[in-house]
Amino acid sequence: MAAYSPLVMEHFEHPRNAGEMPDPDGQATVANPVCGDRMRVMIRVRDGRIAEVRWLTRGCPPAIATSSFASEMVAGWSLEEVEELSREAIAAAIGGLPKDKVHCSVLAADALRGAVRDFHSRNP
Ligand code: FES
Repeated sequence: MAAYSPLVMEHFEHPRNAGEMPDPDGQATVANPVCGDRMRVMIRVRDGRIAEVRWLTRGCPPAIATSSFASEMVAGWSLEEVEELSREAIAAAIGGLPKDKVHCSVLAADALRGAVRDFHSRNP
């Protein structure tokens, strides 16, 4: 296996917030254009901020790890902050990813931004 940071390994071995969320306020499913792996993310929003995130990811170890990590990272963030979240920011915050695996963090970033867009479309 490629050399992953301790945080990547920790979240891969002990993923947080995985699973379904009943009646989410927003959700999105994205496929990684590079490999076809998929992530579905569901969010609960309270007072314009992320109150809870749940996710289901079918993907490689860094995809699982960044899904878990991002679900904790954005807790309490405003929706505007989530809309500006980049995969590079997730990759950097989790201690870096091997060069050929940075694309794996696209799932978490795209899915979270997509879930916020879905929230806005439900609450125009
Ligand atoms: Fe598919 Fe990492 S190889 S997300």
